[in-house]
Amino acid sequence: MSIERVLVAGAGAMGSQIAMVCAFAGYHVTLHDLDPTALDAATAALRERTSSMVAKGRRTAEEVDAAHARLHTASTLPDDADLVIEAIVERLDVKRAFFADLDTRLPAETILASNSSSLVPSSMASAIRRPDRFVNLHFFNPALVMPCVEVVRGPETGDATAAAATAFVESLGKVPVVLAREIPGFVANRLLNAVRDEAIALYEGGYADVDAIDTAARTALGYPMGPFELMDLTGVDIGYLTKKARFDETGDPADAPSATVSRLVADGHLGRKTGRGFYLYDSTGARVGK
Ligand code: 3HC
Repeated sequence: MSIERVLVAGAGAMGSQIAMVCAFAGYHVTLHDLDPTALDAATAALRERTSSMVAKGRRTAEEVDAAHARLHTASTLPDDADLVIEAIVERLDVKRAFFADLDTRLPAETILASNSSSLVPSSMASAIRRPDRFVNLHFFNPALVMPCVEVVRGPETGDATAAAATAFVESLGKVPVVLAREIPGFVANRLLNAVRDEAIALYEGGYADVDAIDTAARTALGYPMGPFELMDLTGVDIGYLTKKARFDETGDPADAPSATVSRLVADGHLGRKTGRGFYLYDSTGARVGK
C-alpha cells in the first residue's frame, strides 16, 4: 500500500497541524473543511507557526515553502486520496455518516483513519464496506510537537492496513504506539483521564485550587503542564465531548463529564481558544490570570 496523497478532514487545531506534519514529511496533502473560514483561519495559523519555526532556526525557509506548496485546502471533498485522516467533531453519529459518505467516493484501496480521542475503530468501521482498511491514528495536541501517534486496530483491521499505518506514522518522524486490540480512550488518554478525574475531584472537593493542583503536577511529577492547563490547551469542550461519548457508550456515571467541565462548556469558556477556561488568556494565548 503506497501512500502519497493524504486527505485530512477537519481544519481545527488537530486537523490543521496534522496536515502540516504530513506536508513537512513530503506528502501531498488536502486539508478539507466544509467551512471556508475555518480553512482560512487554519492557513493563517499554520503560516504564523511555520514562520516562527524559520525565525527560531528550526526549519529553513525553503523547507517551509515546499511544505506549504504541498498543502492545499478544499471545502468540497476530493474524490481521490491514498489515506484519509479524519479530525472532525468528536461525535459518533457525525463520524459514521462522514465515513459512509467517503466510502462511496474514494477508491476501494484508500485507507480510512480516524483521529478520534476515544471512539474505538469498530464503532466507525461498521458504517463502511471496507472495515479491513479502517484504523485509528490518534495524534496529540499540539500535533506539530508531540511525538506519539497511537495506532489502534479494530477487530476487522487488516494486517496490511495496520502495517501501512504504522509505517506512515514512522515516515512522519513520529513514534507509533500500536495497541494490540481496541479499548475506548486507548492508552494515553486513559492514563491522562485518570489524572484529570482525580484533579477535578480534588478541586470540586475544595481540597486545592486549580493553580495548586497544576503546580503539584509540574513540580512534583515533572509533567510539562498541569491537568487544568492541559484541558485549556486541548479545549474544555473536547474533554467534555470525549467524556460524554464514553458515558453514552457505557452508561457508567463515573464516565460522565464533571459538573465543573459541564458548566464551563455551557458558559462558552472552552480554554485558550475562547480566552477563558480554567484560566484567563490574552489574545496571544498567554495566561493572564485565573
Ligand atoms: N502548536 C504548535 N507548536 C507549539 C504550540 C502549539 N499550540 N505550543 C507550543 N509549541 C511549540 C513551541 O513553538 C516550541 O517550539 P520550539 O521548541 O521549536 O521552540 C515548543 O512547542 C515548546 O513550546 P514553549 O517553549 O512555548 O512551551 P513549553 O516548553 O511549555 O511547551 C508544550 C509547550 C509543548 C505544549 C508543553 O507544555 C507540553 O508538552 N505540554 C503537554 C502537552 C500534552 O500533554 N499534550 C497531550 C494532550 S492530550 C491529547 O492531545 C489527546 C487528545 O485526544 C485530546
